[in-house]
Amino acid sequence: MTIQVVATHPFSDQKPGTSGLRKKVTVFQTPHYLENFIQATFDTLESCQGQILVVGGDGRYFNQPAIQIILKMAAANGFSRVKVGQNGILSTPATSCLIRKYRTIGGIILSASHNPAGPGGDFGVKFNTSNGGPAPEKVTKAIYERTQAIETYKILDAADIDLGRLGETKLGTMVVEVIDSVTDYAQLLETLFDFDRIQQFIASGSFRFIFDAMHAVTGPYGRRIFEERLGAPAGTVQAGFPLEDFGGGHPDPNLVYAHDLVAQLFTDHGPDFGAASDGDGDRNMILGRNFFVTPSDSLAILAANATLVPGYRQGLAGIARSMPTSQAPDRVAQQLGIPAFETPTGWKFFGNLLDSGQATLCGEESFGTGSNHVREKDGLWAVLFWLNILAVRQQSVAEIVTQHWQTYGRNFYSRHDYEGVASDRANELMTQLQAKLPTLTGKTLGAGRVAYADDFSYQDPVDQSVSANQGIRIGFEDGSRIVFRLSGTGTEGATLRVYLERYEPNPQNHGLDAQVALQDLIGLADSLAQIKLLTGRDKPTVIT
Ligand code: G6P
Ligand code: ZN
Repeated sequence: MTIQVVATHPFSDQKPGTSGLRKKVTVFQTPHYLENFIQATFDTLESCQGQILVVGGDGRYFNQPAIQIILKMAAANGFSRVKVGQNGILSTPATSCLIRKYRTIGGIILSASHNPAGPGGDFGVKFNTSNGGPAPEKVTKAIYERTQAIETYKILDAADIDLGRLGETKLGTMVVEVIDSVTDYAQLLETLFDFDRIQQFIASGSFRFIFDAMHAVTGPYGRRIFEERLGAPAGTVQAGFPLEDFGGGHPDPNLVYAHDLVAQLFTDHGPDFGAASDGDGDRNMILGRNFFVTPSDSLAILAANATLVPGYRQGLAGIARSMPTSQAPDRVAQQLGIPAFETPTGWKFFGNLLDSGQATLCGEESFGTGSNHVREKDGLWAVLFWLNILAVRQQSVAEIVTQHWQTYGRNFYSRHDYEGVASDRANELMTQLQAKLPTLTGKTLGAGRVAYADDFSYQDPVDQSVSANQGIRIGFEDGSRIVFRLSGTGTEGATLRVYLERYEPNPQNHGLDAQVALQDLIGLADSLAQIKLLTGRDKPTVIT
């Protein structure tokens, strides 16, 4: 086994986005493409010598070939050990858990989250640092800079490792340790939730739930935790075996893409509770019978009920949400007398708040919820948190949510996405909107006066770094908001996201459909941003 030093040239498009480097599989299959990015990542570490790395992915097409390459490169670059999930499977939160538990220098997650998989689909590489969280911007910037100057990479000339067999194998001087994908992560969750109580609740027979793994990474996790450990009947976990093309689906847990689950919950005799996770297991969607819980409300409700759950019994230090997420969690924070933080979109922005102990729970409107137990959002964690609350309160999801609104008021909320818009059109839309901002404050638009109109800029309270241009916000005096952003995770054209929010204190009006309650703001968003005209679309592609 010899170390080869391979000559290469930079690729100009290796700048990581919201969640690592995401490209078509075919791009990653271009000779040297993956290798360059991995070497650039290793080069930004202080030293690889004697270090431990975690590697795994969501099981999508190209996961295993990519892992074989990474293992040989890790061996050539001096790592002493790589912990890799069996068959290459590790969910994103499980990877974060392993990095923290075994104090490794970091981990590499192979995933393009919910983006379609298969030979014609997407692939992605994300590096997480030693705190278990996605690399912060200064690291991803350094990686990108390195990709632009790279001339060689190192790889061991060796045979592939059997990723199906648990245990240790030598690759040169490095140890490859194939580990069970679920065990460490399941142990961590067991320290946070009252598994016995949930088990009894399920055994009582008065409560039925289903979990849709959407043929992606959470299948093995869901089967082990819900069915084997908590005793839920076989079949509780649906689409529970990971497939390389995710069964041709789009494993994004929302009302549009999780249609199979939605159809089962939106009937009068369906299960009491339904949940789904995404490709790499970090997102979650929560449903009751005939009831959808918005991710923003879900975060607020978990926070308000946190002391019912063993891991959070002592209370929360603070709650953090991304800027476009509704302000419902802020109202809970206010009542609890704890700080509420507003960060840009992207889980990485929560890292410093969690590390410094300022925030305990975090969440995003994009179906991400999590806490300081790892440094990623965590789909199964959110489902278990809900199960724990349901087991203690013995009420339906709808009752819990409507009671929450009665206490705190309801933040009507919806996101309208326009996917696959030509990039120049989307940029023009944002530019012309930006130009209007200085004229908006103080104006009456529709029924409300504009309190502020700006492009969101965030200063991290820990390292003082500033992230500018994080989305256009138009806020009204009554707390309503319209937010415009271009997605940072797409791989084709641009996705315009329009986030709409209106606060309603009066319980008499809480039963309204969100699209109806937000009608005026929806019209206003279109006239302000010229959405129909500039995108050429008469309606959004996805409404959540
Ligand atoms: C990923 C990130 C999230 C982010 C979401 C949407 O899931 O981990 O932090 O909120 O993508 O990002 P986007 O830029 O597409 O709105
Ligand atoms: Zn994901």
